[in-house]
Amino acid sequence: MTRHFLDLSGAGGDALAAMLGDAQERKAARRGWPKGQADADAPLAGRVLAMIFEKSSTRTRVSFDMAMRQLGGSVIVLEAGTTQLGRGESIADTARVLSRMVDAIMIRTDDHAKIEELAAHASVPVINGLTDASHPCQIVADLLTVIEHGKALPGLELAWLGDGNNVLSSILEAAGLFGFNVRIGVPQGYDADPAYADVAVSRGSRVSVHRDPREAVVGADVVVTDTWVSMGQSGEEARIAAMTPYQVNAGLMALAAPDALFLHCLPAHRGEEVTDAVIDGRQSVVWDEAENRIHAQKSVLRWVFGQL
Ligand code: CP
Ligand code: NVA
Repeated sequence: MTRHFLDLSGAGGDALAAMLGDAQERKAARRGWPKGQADADAPLAGRVLAMIFEKSSTRTRVSFDMAMRQLGGSVIVLEAGTTQLGRGESIADTARVLSRMVDAIMIRTDDHAKIEELAAHASVPVINGLTDASHPCQIVADLLTVIEHGKALPGLELAWLGDGNNVLSSILEAAGLFGFNVRIGVPQGYDADPAYADVAVSRGSRVSVHRDPREAVVGADVVVTDTWVSMGQSGEEARIAAMTPYQVNAGLMALAAPDALFLHCLPAHRGEEVTDAVIDGRQSVVWDEAENRIHAQKSVLRWVFGQL
């Protein structure tokens, strides 16, 4: 059966644990090498990944490209606006055609239903490179970063500040799979997607919602935020006004555990969801997190190809 990576739950905790272990090993094995040099075993030699972008991207695009190079394979980038998909060719037909031409498809799009449709009609693996609903590839990199910085996932207290968005949804999935707890500091009207929060709770995670951002952060092991206005969202002014009290600044960060980590998937809007003092401060691991997109994506790729 074709393995798709549409959400973390679809892969499951065991597969994700295998990906995290593989990412750590591969990262260590090639430390100091030129970034474009293939890993010694080049496990995806001859494989081609098509990447479809219906939204902007820097990290996802570069990390998947570098991941494929390091695994010995290659990529084709399709900007949706310059493809027939952008002129109305159906997702189903696009899936059928690409399945005959390439070995896997990564797509960044808006409606999550589109990625499900693509997967339903593709005979090659489909990977979620972000939808309005979730961003699972990002969270594999985030978990890798947290582990690398010496924190065990079970029992971890993670504080999320700001918008209840797609990145938070994937964090909630991970919480349920790895047994950590999520405190969400979010203004009314911008809450997390209950479908993802409920699954985390049903798997035994504590998920709490706080209108006072300080309550969310007190004693937290990891503090995470993201843009207040995700790609495709409207109502920018109202969103910024509502979320301003949830800015991660030095005062708020000081309430977390003394060794707490700060994560942000990037791009950051400095002065909005996070201050310079925090993102450039001693607790910030955002550059490791960004680099880890490569190592995490390599393991996601190896998993969809049945190598993990
Ligand atoms: N974090 C992330 O997905 O970044 P890009 O939008 O640059 O891909
Ligand atoms: N929540 C953000 C993440 C960007 C990587 C967005 O969807 O725009």
